[in-house]
Amino acid sequence: MSMIDIAALADIPREGARVVRTPQGCVAIFRTATDQVFALDDRCPHKGGPLSEGIVHGTQVTCPLHNWVFDMATGQAQGADEGRVATHAVQVRDGRILLDAARLTSRAA
Ligand code: FES
Repeated sequence: MSMIDIAALADIPREGARVVRTPQGCVAIFRTATDQVFALDDRCPHKGGPLSEGIVHGTQVTCPLHNWVFDMATGQAQGADEGRVATHAVQVRDGRILLDAARLTSRAA
Protein backbone atom coordinates (compact mmCIF):
# COMPACT_ATOMS: atom_id res chain seq x y z
CA MET A 1 0.00 0.00 0.00
CA SER A 2 1.51 3.36 -0.87
CA MET A 3 0.70 6.19 1.46
CA ILE A 4 0.62 9.90 0.69
CA ASP A 5 1.56 12.57 3.21
CA ILE A 6 -1.48 14.84 3.51
CA ALA A 7 -0.90 16.95 6.63
CA ALA A 8 0.83 17.25 9.95
CA LEU A 9 -1.04 15.78 12.89
CA ALA A 10 -0.73 19.22 14.50
CA ASP A 11 -2.69 20.74 11.59
CA ILE A 12 -5.87 19.11 12.88
CA PRO A 13 -7.18 20.19 16.26
CA ARG A 14 -8.01 17.48 18.77
CA GLU A 15 -11.62 16.35 18.26
CA GLY A 16 -11.52 18.18 14.94
CA ALA A 17 -11.30 17.30 11.27
CA ARG A 18 -9.79 18.38 8.02
CA VAL A 19 -11.06 17.67 4.51
CA VAL A 20 -8.89 16.22 1.77
CA ARG A 21 -10.26 16.52 -1.76
CA THR A 22 -9.73 13.46 -3.93
CA PRO A 23 -10.91 12.60 -7.44
CA GLN A 24 -13.59 10.45 -5.80
CA GLY A 25 -14.87 13.09 -3.45
CA CYS A 26 -13.91 14.56 -0.14
CA VAL A 27 -12.37 12.51 2.63
CA ALA A 28 -12.65 13.74 6.20
CA ILE A 29 -9.60 13.17 8.37
CA PHE A 30 -10.49 13.14 12.07
CA ARG A 31 -8.25 13.46 15.10
CA THR A 32 -9.51 12.21 18.44
CA ALA A 33 -8.77 13.59 21.89
CA THR A 34 -6.14 10.86 22.26
CA ASP A 35 -4.50 11.56 18.88
CA GLN A 36 -5.99 8.62 17.02
CA VAL A 37 -6.62 9.47 13.37
CA PHE A 38 -9.41 8.16 11.15
CA ALA A 39 -10.33 8.80 7.52
CA LEU A 40 -13.93 8.55 6.30
CA ASP A 41 -15.82 9.76 3.28
CA ASP A 42 -17.02 13.28 4.08
CA ARG A 43 -20.55 12.34 3.17
CA CYS A 44 -23.12 10.95 5.53
CA PRO A 45 -24.94 7.91 4.08
CA HIS A 46 -28.22 9.29 5.41
CA LYS A 47 -28.62 12.53 3.41
CA GLY A 48 -25.10 13.53 2.53
CA GLY A 49 -24.23 15.67 5.56
CA PRO A 50 -20.60 16.79 5.88
CA LEU A 51 -19.23 14.52 8.58
CA SER A 52 -16.11 16.69 8.84
CA GLU A 53 -18.36 19.31 10.48
CA GLY A 54 -19.71 16.80 12.95
CA ILE A 55 -18.85 16.35 16.60
CA VAL A 56 -16.05 13.95 17.47
CA HIS A 57 -16.48 12.07 20.75
CA GLY A 58 -14.26 9.17 21.59
CA THR A 59 -13.85 7.19 18.37
CA GLN A 60 -17.24 8.24 17.06
CA VAL A 61 -18.51 11.20 15.10
CA THR A 62 -22.02 12.64 15.11
CA CYS A 63 -23.34 13.94 11.79
CA PRO A 64 -24.16 17.67 11.98
CA LEU A 65 -27.44 17.35 10.09
CA HIS A 66 -29.55 14.73 11.88
CA ASN A 67 -27.24 13.45 14.57
CA TRP A 68 -26.58 9.96 13.32
CA VAL A 69 -23.53 8.56 15.09
CA PHE A 70 -20.80 6.64 13.27
CA ASP A 71 -17.98 4.51 14.57
CA MET A 72 -14.96 6.02 12.85
CA ALA A 73 -13.01 2.75 12.87
CA THR A 74 -15.67 0.79 10.99
CA GLY A 75 -17.81 3.55 9.46
CA GLN A 76 -20.87 1.77 10.81
CA ALA A 77 -23.89 3.77 11.99
CA GLN A 78 -24.62 3.21 15.66
CA GLY A 79 -27.85 2.55 17.50
CA ALA A 80 -31.03 2.09 15.52
CA ASP A 81 -29.73 3.83 12.40
CA GLU A 82 -28.51 1.74 9.51
CA GLY A 83 -25.80 2.76 7.12
CA ARG A 84 -22.10 2.76 6.68
CA VAL A 85 -19.55 5.35 5.63
CA ALA A 86 -16.53 4.20 3.64
CA THR A 87 -13.36 4.27 5.71
CA HIS A 88 -9.82 4.66 4.41
CA ALA A 89 -6.46 3.47 5.61
CA VAL A 90 -4.59 6.21 7.41
CA GLN A 91 -1.45 6.23 9.55
CA VAL A 92 0.48 8.70 11.65
CA ARG A 93 4.23 8.53 11.27
CA ASP A 94 6.70 11.04 12.70
CA GLY A 95 3.89 13.52 13.29
CA ARG A 96 2.66 13.34 9.70
CA ILE A 97 -0.66 11.91 8.54
CA LEU A 98 -0.43 9.43 5.69
CA LEU A 99 -3.48 8.42 3.64
CA ASP A 100 -3.73 5.36 1.43
CA ALA A 101 -2.77 6.64 -2.02
CA ALA A 102 -5.09 4.20 -3.76
CA ARG A 103 -7.96 6.37 -2.62
CA LEU A 104 -6.46 9.44 -4.22
CA THR A 105 -5.75 7.94 -7.59
CA SER A 106 -8.00 4.96 -8.22
CA ARG A 107 -11.03 5.41 -10.41
CA ALA A 108 -9.67 8.84 -11.35
CA ALA A 109 -9.67 8.15 -15.07
S1 FES B 1 -27.37 13.56 6.75
FE1 FES B 1 -26.22 12.71 8.36
S2 FES B 1 -27.70 12.15 9.80
FE2 FES B 1 -28.85 12.94 8.14
